[in-house]
Amino acid sequence: MKLVFLGPPGAGKGTQASRVAEKVGIFHASTGDIFRAAVKGGTDVGKTVKDYLDGGRLVPDELTCRVVEQEVLDARKDYVLDGFPRTIAQADMLEAALARRGQKLDAVIHYALDDAEATVRLTGRLVCRKCGWNFHKVNMPPKKQGVCDQCGGELYIRSDSTLEAVQKRLAEYHEKTEPLVAYYARRNLLTTIDASQPFETVLSQTLELLRPLR
Ligand code: AP5
Repeated sequence: MKLVFLGPPGAGKGTQASRVAEKVGIFHASTGDIFRAAVKGGTDVGKTVKDYLDGGRLVPDELTCRVVEQEVLDARKDYVLDGFPRTIAQADMLEAALARRGQKLDAVIHYALDDAEATVRLTGRLVCRKCGWNFHKVNMPPKKQGVCDQCGGELYIRSDSTLEAVQKRLAEYHEKTEPLVAYYARRNLLTTIDASQPFETVLSQTLELLRPLR
């Protein structure tokens, strides 16, 4: 199964993708996580992308596509792409790269959320340093403050969670990523889910949608 989870920053793509990947048994491929791991590891890719991430700007298409081909398309059979593609150029590249492999996407889920709610979510998000699980200070708090429910790891606030970076990320989304909603609707791959609903409701609607594909 090959899926794309699309939507503005804060819509819950990562939260949903990690749960879906676990339940369905597919790989959770988050370009944001791949880039953050590269920054942490001090690799050449990490050095190149650090300023883009901290400033909330998109990493250039060529580098992003190269990383996705190597780390996901060449390495995995079934996956959910979380945060990729994010531009029309990336979507075209994905379509071409899959076609070269005799493959295609099975579904694209668009998680719709307005900017005000996205901003509240992002500025309150807590992430586990060890396993990457997401929490929210108010909406989805961990059982014990500062500690991950899943693995006991330390929770931290991402460097792109400042109000300034969040506003930049939302602007980038509207300008460069939102056109993908129409792009995938034209290909009859798109379903939109209202991401402002409680997490469990969004998850059950997502799993229901994927049922015929499993
Ligand atoms: P990335 O890591 O992909 O960030 P993003 O898309 O901006 O998305 P987020 O992870 O911030 O939000 P999300 O939708 O996953 O929401 P989440 O589940 O965390 O990208 C980071 C950066 O990397 C980019 O800015 C760019 O620089 C670079 N990059 C990545 N991919 C790229 C690409 N393809 N091309 C170029 N550059 C790229 O949830 C948010 C919060 O809300 C959490 O606290 C969560 O607990 C809470 N929450 C979730 N669901 C609910 C709910 N239903 N109700 C209440 N709270 C909820």
